[in-house]
Amino acid sequence: MNRRDAILGMACGVAALSGRASVDGAQEDSRREIVDEFIKVRQAQRFTQESVPEEDIQSIVTAGLNAPSAKNVQPWFFAVVTDKDLLKEIDKAANVNPNGRLSVGGSPLVVFVSTNGSEYGLFDGGVATDRMNVAANLLGYGCKTVATAAKAANEPEFKKKLHIPDNYTVFAALLIGKEIEKSVDGVSGATTRAPQQEKVFFYKK
Ligand SMILES: Cc1cc2nc3c(=O)[nH]c(=O)nc-3n(C[C@H](O)[C@H](O)[C@H](O)COP(=O)(O)O)c2cc1C
Repeated sequence: MNRRDAILGMACGVAALSGRASVDGAQEDSRREIVDEFIKVRQAQRFTQESVPEEDIQSIVTAGLNAPSAKNVQPWFFAVVTDKDLLKEIDKAANVNPNGRLSVGGSPLVVFVSTNGSEYGLFDGGVATDRMNVAANLLGYGCKTVATAAKAANEPEFKKKLHIPDNYTVFAALLIGKEIEKSVDGVSGATTRAPQQEKVFFYKK
């Protein structure tokens, strides 16, 4: 069982418990395990071409739509693409190697995330993107956020094809798919993170 399957299995167990007033020790442990596993999730680097079922796509998008936003303005628009030909065209427009790390064509499902110019637009769009990322991971997929090729989707011909409103700008694409085993591993191959003391301060009484 890979890590994501483990998360999924544990999440299913915990989901069945949700709504109860109290949890016993074993249930508490399994919640802790889910969090511990989730902390290890890193970006997927390469994907299989196995398509993502419609039901999963709907759940992922719904997770994004239910994200919080400042004053609940929901300043996002998601363009969901499963058409390889279009993704290859976007890679080409972005001057990106179609077989490289930055390619949007390397995954079976891509969500182009755009926001309008509202005050917290980018922040809210980022939150929505990560909600989709979390949902996709819980469903057993790997995800990768890319900005480079995504920006090419702002070219008028793509915006039109993707029904992205004129006043919205694509800032990132979320690549989703089954992660190829033995690609960059979430633990051993992960990009390093700054030490906690550099990034967090705990003010205690
Ligand atoms: C807004 C945003 C844009 C990103 N754009 C790119 C990109 O264009 N190309 C890329 O390879 N990674 C991109 N990344 C991925 C980051 O490089 C990655 O999250 C970071 O290196 C941590 O990787 P890890 O989670 O695998 O350790 C982007 C991430 C975010 C949040």
